[in-house]
Amino acid sequence: MTSDDTAAPDDTAAPGLIPAPREVTWAGPGQGRYPLDGATVLSAAPGTEGVARWLRATVGAATGLPLADGTEGPRVELALDGTLAPEAYGLVVDAEAVRITGGSAAGLFWGAQTFRQLLGPDAFRRAPIAPGRTWHVPAVVVEDEPRFSWRGLMLDVSRHFLPKDDVLRYLDLLAAHKLNVFHFHLTDDQGWRVEIKRYPRLTEAGAWRSRTKYGHRASELWDETPHGGFYTQDDIREIVAYAAERHIRVVPEIDIPGHSQAAISAYPELGNTDVIDTTTLSVWDTWGINPNVLAPTDNTLRFFEGVFEELLDLFPAATSPFIHVGGDECLKDQWKESPTAQARIAELGLKDEDELQSWFIRHFDSWLTARGRRLIGWDEILEGGLAEGAAVSSWRGYAGGIAAAEAGHDVVMCPEQQVYLDHRQDGGPDEPMPIGYVRTLEDVYRFEPVPPGLSEEAVRHILGTQANVWTEVMQNRSRVDYQVFPRLAAFAEVAWSSLPAPADRDFAGFDARMTDHYARLDALGVDYRRPGGPLPWQRRPGILGRPIEGAPPVV
Ligand code: ACM
Repeated sequence: MTSDDTAAPDDTAAPGLIPAPREVTWAGPGQGRYPLDGATVLSAAPGTEGVARWLRATVGAATGLPLADGTEGPRVELALDGTLAPEAYGLVVDAEAVRITGGSAAGLFWGAQTFRQLLGPDAFRRAPIAPGRTWHVPAVVVEDEPRFSWRGLMLDVSRHFLPKDDVLRYLDLLAAHKLNVFHFHLTDDQGWRVEIKRYPRLTEAGAWRSRTKYGHRASELWDETPHGGFYTQDDIREIVAYAAERHIRVVPEIDIPGHSQAAISAYPELGNTDVIDTTTLSVWDTWGINPNVLAPTDNTLRFFEGVFEELLDLFPAATSPFIHVGGDECLKDQWKESPTAQARIAELGLKDEDELQSWFIRHFDSWLTARGRRLIGWDEILEGGLAEGAAVSSWRGYAGGIAAAEAGHDVVMCPEQQVYLDHRQDGGPDEPMPIGYVRTLEDVYRFEPVPPGLSEEAVRHILGTQANVWTEVMQNRSRVDYQVFPRLAAFAEVAWSSLPAPADRDFAGFDARMTDHYARLDALGVDYRRPGGPLPWQRRPGILGRPIEGAPPVV
């Protein structure tokens, strides 16, 4: 460190780190900062090569620094320390070096994310805006570790397709927030988005619709532009590899037996042909809960085993131990009317249609378990009895998650009342196509994934939490950004940091740190909601949403 490096007090200012690390000790004003320039080398110990590659590709591109291999002189050192928990890391910046140590490559990667935040917002750009400048990181000691092992975001790419590049960008945004699960909602009534080689019509016919309801379903407006798109199998492999390099697990979702109109429109024999003429169905062009559900036949089971066979090949067990089968909002009206479904209920000795759904899900639970995977589904899969070993995404509040965890099932908490980011973030008239409850940045910051009163044993079954983003009224990436940010920053802190009870959380402190984080989001080109409300072009005046007044109780 040179005397010049310690001269300016603002150069040692502590940047607002998000999510907040467990322990941070700043050296303090006048204690120095570490310079990085063209001579700074990168010392990558065995096992850290992937993180070194990421640093050069990302921080290297933003700074223009080559970060050449080396072990002497000014340097950034990467190492593993098996005494740390796998996702834990230490980061020390002193007069000699920047040293990042991870319990595994994953922990090291989260440490590298903190290092990037220490470099300042321009480290989040894709090219240097001031070539040749010397960069600095403040002297600091960080010891950090996540609270939860499941820190996720679910993105619905069915209601509105998000092109591959936008998905890759979202993986970068998750990584920047130390989130490690990407729940990929690939199918729904409004579009099938993954190529399945043995069933080409799923994407030929099922991946597009000729028009789309513009706004909530009560809106009078239609967008008459054909909408669609899908990921080829190679696109999926690329997405999975990109996520893996960022230590993000991908949870693919094929939503069955409800939310299946796109599949039925492509292969009408999958529907309840004894109730309706399924050949008349097309990919759904509006929103809501759809009665056109899968028929509980052997043909349907074999068809989806074929889908899952290809899916397991695309999403390897190492990075996709969980496979999501949906299971939500399956209306039973057609099964009640269908002689075929009723015959199946009788043949299996089931009590009712809920048990039929349960039988359907259990079939895929055994099938996935036999192939070394674990099934996860929305909390409706509890109805009629939950398959053993299955895990639950608790979305209709905490209750499903509490029941599942007390019964010994693993749970991901994602209650719609708290962490559905499609819900509007302000009660004012300017929110674009306002949906659901008002859930502000502060509300998300005060979300607690573990409800009070759970037994100790049940608490151990809360794997973590995820925020969910349903895209009915998000036509493109910009609209998704607006709904997701800045709230994902608050969510990331809830999922990563060991925060006190909701009422005791220092939201003012978090909000102050957000000043630095907004600058990062600006550098990343995120179309977030400004604290003062939407910018003029982020508004959608006159397009009907579905605001829900009043806040439901938290538990
Ligand atoms: C859901 O929101 N239907 C899981």
